[in-house]
Amino acid sequence: MVILKLPEEIEKARASNRIVAEVLSKLSEMVRPGVKTKELDKLAEEIAEKRGAKPAFKGYRGYPHALCISVNEVVVHGMPSERILEEGDILGLDFGIYYQGFFGDSAVTLPVGKISEKAARLISVTRESLYAGIEQAREGNRLGDISAAVQSAAEGAGYSVVRDFVGHGIGKNLHEDPQIPNFGQKGRGIELKKGMILAIEPMVNEGKYKVQVLPDGWTVVTKDGSLSAHFEHSVAITDNGPDILSMLS
Ligand code: CO
Repeated sequence: MVILKLPEEIEKARASNRIVAEVLSKLSEMVRPGVKTKELDKLAEEIAEKRGAKPAFKGYRGYPHALCISVNEVVVHGMPSERILEEGDILGLDFGIYYQGFFGDSAVTLPVGKISEKAARLISVTRESLYAGIEQAREGNRLGDISAAVQSAAEGAGYSVVRDFVGHGIGKNLHEDPQIPNFGQKGRGIELKKGMILAIEPMVNEGKYKVQVLPDGWTVVTKDGSLSAHFEHSVAITDNGPDILSMLS
């Protein structure tokens, strides 16, 4: 069941998502070779606490950290550790919080120092595929319009989209209906309505789309070892079209 939100609820969700955006922006200033991924997790938790917000992922289905940190061939759900970032890595940061009754959720992929052109292109195509999806988040469109737009932006550039993980509705729960695959067909699926809040999150692989979960039960990697990038925004559908909630301004 898809839960529609009232305008005042969308404003609460915006307040929550803004804190997520603030955390991701502060973390991105810290990202450079030599930084331990655990340090980023600690900082994310500290900022959230200062804002009176609760990290949403910590304890979710037993996930032990505030932040998901996914380096290189890690697609999503990588765990903060003693790992030290190296020049040329690409770094996915995925963060969520719970604040005054509503969840916020957003992710970015960032370069560590100077990265290869190939890696930079993967990052920019993945970001563009997210924005292509967001552009379709309009009343009267169908869910498949979002999925198809993401897929064609990614595949059109020669990449593949992950099948096993999807975006989701978000609100008073971190994960609500509908599930939002990053592949699909235009004109198919449920009709989009004003008041929906959708966390759209393309995961794009340089190689094949297959992924596997490591024995830690969380870390998702590409099966072929190729690089992967991930971006996510929580977006409200309004009378004025898509409204990206997980932004600073
Ligand atoms: Co999400």
